[in-house]
Amino acid sequence: MVSDYKVQIKNLYKIFGPDPKSMVSHVQQGMGKSDLLDQHGHVLGLNDINLDIPAKKVQVVMGLSGSGKSTLIRHINRLIEPTAGEVIVDGENVLEMNETALRNFRQKKASMVFQKFALMPHRTIAENAAYGLTVQNIPEDEAKERSQRWIDRVGLSGFENHYPAQLSGGMQQRVGLARALATDAEILLMDEAFSALDPLIRTDMQSVMLDLQEELHKTIIFITHDLDEALRIGDNIAILRDGRMVQAGTPQEIVLKPADDYVRDFIQDINRARVLQVGSMAHGKPPAKGPKIEKNVVVEEALQIISSAKAKTAIVTDKGKPVGSVTLDDMIAAIARPEPGDKGIETYR
Ligand SMILES: Nc1ncnc2c1ncn2[C@@H]1O[C@H](COP(=O)(O)OP(=O)(O)O)[C@@H](O)[C@H]1O
Ligand SMILES: [Mg+2]
Repeated sequence: MVSDYKVQIKNLYKIFGPDPKSMVSHVQQGMGKSDLLDQHGHVLGLNDINLDIPAKKVQVVMGLSGSGKSTLIRHINRLIEPTAGEVIVDGENVLEMNETALRNFRQKKASMVFQKFALMPHRTIAENAAYGLTVQNIPEDEAKERSQRWIDRVGLSGFENHYPAQLSGGMQQRVGLARALATDAEILLMDEAFSALDPLIRTDMQSVMLDLQEELHKTIIFITHDLDEALRIGDNIAILRDGRMVQAGTPQEIVLKPADDYVRDFIQDINRARVLQVGSMAHGKPPAKGPKIEKNVVVEEALQIISSAKAKTAIVTDKGKPVGSVTLDDMIAAIARPEPGDKGIETYR
């Protein structure tokens, strides 16, 4: 049976050191990263990761530096071999692919966008953007023609004959994005692709990507250590700590029910009104009257709707159909920053 998931990661372990396989049982018996290093001189990269990644959505992988994000994403196109476990893409086990199949897979199915742009300095923007196609032995003219569309789409028309050094960091990263898109790959692997950019340019690149995604519906696996970025672009977020996945869920779930203190610390300072949707706090019967607010509207916007209607209670709708009620007080309570030790949404009910 072919699963609905584009990528499935199953019981994945990665241990670095002279004899990684012999270390798996220690980790399975509960040994953590620091003990494995102290007692056995091995580095625990990934510890029993299980993650189902749906097609056509943005899956964010988030965590502090050293938590295992790059190690995880590199397993998806097998730049890294696991110590144990499986990686399944479109129902196919990546670890069973032979060299030809793997090369094909990397060129056509899963395109990688790197943090440091990885552009070739002695080639023009046009040549760099076409590179993913020319390595597939597609004739240069055709490759340039096909990639031109993406140069235009990322806003670089007119820069085709420039060299990377003549472009700003943000523009260079647009070339990286155009190159990945030009391959028509269904999966984009983006390892901290925007992390080296200045905040404004970074927000701008996020917008470029979200706009493209609305029409392209790629499966994007996006790594970041930045929570604001994760919440803005992720349909789903997985959080890693010391090689372990401590939580996976939608931005709503993570903000409303942080799995532990590590996640709680992460979300401490976010603007909850921009993340939480009224659907997460809807309850009871829809009131007889009041403004209608669709369930995926964020509280920031809902507060404006309810106050400009001079109402205290709103009708929460799902595709226009009334499904519940939400009050001004519900919204204000939900966006209040939780006190340390609070257990999540229950506190607000
Ligand atoms: N080739 C390697 N050899 C030894 N340790 C490694 C290697 N690659 C990564 N690690 C270790 O694995 C852990 C996870 O690294 P990485 O996946 O790069 O984290 P992140 O991308 O989240 O910053 C870190 O402790 C790192 O030092
Ligand atoms: Mg990394």
